Amino acid sequence: MVAQVVDGKTFAAKVRAQVSDQVLKLKEENGIIPGLAVVLVGEDPASQVYVRSKGKMTVEVGMNSYEHKLDVDTSEEDLLALIDQLNTNPAVHGILVQLPLPRHLNEDLVINSIDPAKDVDGFHISNVGLLVTGQKSMVPCTPLGCLMMLRDHHGSLSGMDAVVIGRSNIVGKPMAQLLLGDSCTVTIAHSRTKDLPNVVRRADIVIAAVGRPEMVPGDWIKEGATVIDVGINRIERDGKNKLVGDVDYASAADRAGAITPVPGGVGPMTIACLLANTLTACCRAIGLPEPEGLTA
Ligand code: GUN
Repeated sequence: MVAQVVDGKTFAAKVRAQVSDQVLKLKEENGIIPGLAVVLVGEDPASQVYVRSKGKMTVEVGMNSYEHKLDVDTSEEDLLALIDQLNTNPAVHGILVQLPLPRHLNEDLVINSIDPAKDVDGFHISNVGLLVTGQKSMVPCTPLGCLMMLRDHHGSLSGMDAVVIGRSNIVGKPMAQLLLGDSCTVTIAHSRTKDLPNVVRRADIVIAAVGRPEMVPGDWIKEGATVIDVGINRIERDGKNKLVGDVDYASAADRAGAITPVPGGVGPMTIACLLANTLTACCRAIGLPEPEGLTA
């Protein structure tokens, strides 16, 4: 079987266009412009790239972007004071604190100081609890993007066997909860899983989110399975820098029914879902119905 390539770049552009239409409607009918505040502490080069890209796309869909760049040695007290200010600012509907934070800052404390209604990353413990119990929450962006692509490809996911490789709080755990919410039979696999190849071979849906370049070879993939590759790994090959996923794309594409490439698969969906979450947060804040198709 030769896999259908799931084009995340096109899909993400479609999601952003939907967001943009809704933002325009909000502006015209309610006089409200959704606002997203992004906080970056320090000068981590990868984080700087992400933050710049988030700000640019926020403006492109017609929202207000508020960037707060803080010194690497900003105190916890000052960071919490800024978050407090953003929590009470009615022009700010979404708050994102870029991770990782410098080591002297307590990440859990900082994340849990964000108003859960503005927590567009979905990392606050209240949102985690709401997701697990099947209640309305803010859903982490990368897993939400994966879910949107799976629903678009399959329609219903009910009864499918899904294996999530990786148990991070940002991707693996929320992804598993979302798949469970869509009535999949879910296995979470990780570095200590016994006989990982045969666990993966059972799956109709494979989500690879471990951050290890090309660790899933094609012969672990069941014929016709859907493979969602969340990994973005920078490697050097033949003297050139290259981005590869957690899945060995060439061999997996020979067996899968559908597969996301790296780059151009899940990656672009993450920021699109961040914008979708900001719109959702704004609609909830002003008591309007949520945008259809942009939430879990
Ligand atoms: N760093 C890497 N990914 C993310 C993300 O999704 N959200 C935040 N806040 N920081 C990140």
